[in-house]
Amino acid sequence: METLFRPTEKQLLAIRLLDDPKVWELLYGGAKGGGKTTLGCLWCFAIANRMIEAYHLKPSKYPLLIGFMGRRRGTDFVRYTLEKWKTIIPSEAYRLKERNQELIIRNTVKYYYGGLDNEELIKKFNSAEMAIAFVDQAEEIESEKLVNELRMSLRLTIDNKPVPHKILWTANPRAGWLKDTFIDQKLPNKVFLRSLWSDNPYLPDQYVTQMEDALRNTPELLKAYRDGSWDIVAGADQIIQEEWVNQAKETKLHLPDRCVIGADIARFGDDQTVIYGLNNSKIVMENIYGKQDLYYTADQIEEMAFKMKTMGLCPSAIGVDTTGMPGVTDILRRKQQVWNFPCKIIEINPIKLMTSGWKAMKEIALPCPEWLKIMDFTLEINNGMLLINQN
Ligand SMILES: Nc1ncnc2c1ncn2[C@@H]1O[C@H](COP(=O)(O)OP(=O)(O)OP(=O)(O)O)[C@@H](O)[C@H]1O
Ligand SMILES: [Mg+2]
Repeated sequence: METLFRPTEKQLLAIRLLDDPKVWELLYGGAKGGGKTTLGCLWCFAIANRMIEAYHLKPSKYPLLIGFMGRRRGTDFVRYTLEKWKTIIPSEAYRLKERNQELIIRNTVKYYYGGLDNEELIKKFNSAEMAIAFVDQAEEIESEKLVNELRMSLRLTIDNKPVPHKILWTANPRAGWLKDTFIDQKLPNKVFLRSLWSDNPYLPDQYVTQMEDALRNTPELLKAYRDGSWDIVAGADQIIQEEWVNQAKETKLHLPDRCVIGADIARFGDDQTVIYGLNNSKIVMENIYGKQDLYYTADQIEEMAFKMKTMGLCPSAIGVDTTGMPGVTDILRRKQQVWNFPCKIIEINPIKLMTSGWKAMKEIALPCPEWLKIMDFTLEINNGMLLINQN
């Protein structure tokens, strides 16, 4: 029983890699529309047929479990990947046992299917003995720990004959464990194959032009989804882009030595005020507390400035992040009139740098102080204001 779908050249290459005994796992990842989900379905169907032939398996009331097909969330698997399966694989070749989340092929072998968010399923992996797994949109899985149970369940043998154990991951580019494991580490048994839209002759003519138009304001996503680039993309919903962090790591200090004080003000709730005295990127003093008024904070900053001066580390500037909390810099400027050393007082207010999109997000985030901190940090890092200590 065959499918009418013929694999593309790239899909064939992926299948050949999976057939290589040295390869245990393949990440087939990259551009949108390259044919990744289709490959996963074709491969799972082909392996099922191959195992039936190779091990002379017969139809049974209790089909042999051979693997797992899934995605991060079971609902997404059913809505998208399983729908694709239904369009590719002839309906007479399989049946679904939805209650048990089983996909039975030729009444002989079966796959578990569903989401790695399902604890019942993960428990099933504990006692399962399987040979293969296909995980679609694997970039949605936040941590490699979530797939350990799955990896450990690949231990099937048939009549004491060895069975190849393989995992196919398909994904769109995103920074994280997939990139670390399959692209950066270059392990011999965990292999990466880039998928490109140009590998897939079945896409409609206007596919790429439409994508370019839709993503014209997000060049990083366009590079990932059109060109299959894993270089810079940190995921559509990831706020702090890997690229910014790398840039911050490269930031070098300029001589002469600088001593400064940096303060991030919090006034209410669980959030805390943080004041750091810095000698270049080295923290020499710190003062962290919650729920104090702005006068208290101005006093604390002044006290730190004087202490640093007596240590021979007189601060030449004090930067205060006053977002949503103006006042501290005004009080400090008053105090400064009687100081006996020059010091620049700088108000850092990232809200002024914001685009309307950020502004709107910030308003939504106002009830959550942690979220606000992340957004401030993000803006500072993105504007080159943040320096990551390299010592
Ligand atoms: N070998 C094939 N034969 C016929 N059509 C194919 C083949 N491979 C892929 N296609 C078609 O190309 C389109 C894109 O394929 P698919 O959905 O598998 O891509 P994808 O890489 O999973 O996309 P996305 O990144 O959006 O998840 C689909 O309409 C699919 O049916
Ligand atoms: Mg897909």
